Amino acid sequence: MKFDTTVVRAAIHPDPTTGSIVPPLYQTATYVLDEVGKDKGFDYTRSTNPTRQMLEEHLAAMDGGKFGVCFASGMSAVDSCLKLLKAGDHVVCSDDVYGGVSRHYNTVLTRYGLSFTYVDSSNPALVKEAIRPETKMLWCETPTNPLLKVTDMAAMSKIAKEHNLLFGVDSTFATPVFLRPLEYGADIVLHSTTKYLSGHNQLIGGAVITNRQDIFDEMKYIQKTIGAVPSPFDCWLTLLGVKTLHLRMARHASNAQKVAEFLEAHPKVARVTYPGLASHPQHEVAAKQMDGFSGMISFELTGGIPAGKTVMNSVKLCALAESLGAVETMITHPATMTHVDVPAAERHARGLTDGLVRISVGIEDVEDIIADLSAALDKA
Ligand SMILES: Cc1ncc(COP(=O)(O)O)c(C=O)c1O
Repeated sequence: MKFDTTVVRAAIHPDPTTGSIVPPLYQTATYVLDEVGKDKGFDYTRSTNPTRQMLEEHLAAMDGGKFGVCFASGMSAVDSCLKLLKAGDHVVCSDDVYGGVSRHYNTVLTRYGLSFTYVDSSNPALVKEAIRPETKMLWCETPTNPLLKVTDMAAMSKIAKEHNLLFGVDSTFATPVFLRPLEYGADIVLHSTTKYLSGHNQLIGGAVITNRQDIFDEMKYIQKTIGAVPSPFDCWLTLLGVKTLHLRMARHASNAQKVAEFLEAHPKVARVTYPGLASHPQHEVAAKQMDGFSGMISFELTGGIPAGKTVMNSVKLCALAESLGAVETMITHPATMTHVDVPAAERHARGLTDGLVRISVGIEDVEDIIADLSAALDKA
């Protein structure tokens, strides 16, 4: 099956009883047994649910993986991956991760004896240097949120293998349409399905994909034991949304390329970061390992923080909102929104300035998006 067919059809089968082409929504907590000790493969929805199982199999197929495990949010998926570790273990993590991830690592997981070193994972030498005897995991986001740094998957996978480390990749920004980290040897792929995979700003969800039976067994155990599971309805909505992922991603990426080029040429814009621009520091790595550059852009204005705020407050079509990866173009101020809990000194050390503006370019007509940004920039 070719990739585009996989996206539409892989595990989404019509209902065998009625022929309904849209699979039924099994909105149930429990299942009636045939007799003691004999169920029909389902016993309780925290453990497993037919709608969720279909989504898990479908997402796994898109990433070229054998197994998928869905969670109630991207964050609970992240948390569940870290539960593969134990007190005393150390993680080397990309320095520019979603603010909720570093908040979770630094304020919650450190209480349980895990420790973290953040490095610019676009530089494999820095990753190697950060590895200690107690390091058990490499965790990368690529492209990162919000600075869109790109990590070389093959180089990272080699380091992980040499040091016998688990290699996890948060591929939320790339989606399986543009990057399939398992092909490069990653052990775990993570998605916030809240974003592109469901695609319509309609739910919160997360997923973990793996080829490894041992990781799958452990993740299923963690899933049913902790119970951070998505509702069947959210799984069903994700199944509906995901079928158009390849079409949406193509449009997100082509719109983003044009918006990035417009911003780069604009006299009031000081710096634009988009992996599809030749000026992006890892443009070549991105072009080599990705099938497209996705829909996320960040930029700074020559007028700094006040000018950035004016743009964000002046846009009309672009929604000033905290999320990404949906059909609507959204504009975000990482310093006060998505990354507000990253201490200012740490943010600034990473290069995440208070004037940084992030855009999740939607699938509207790109001329309307550019006209909206252009009018807002005129006011800045
Ligand atoms: C890259 C990335 N990973 C994980 C998450 C967390 O996902 P969720 O909001 O679904 O919990 C986010 C949220 O923005 C994100 O951007």
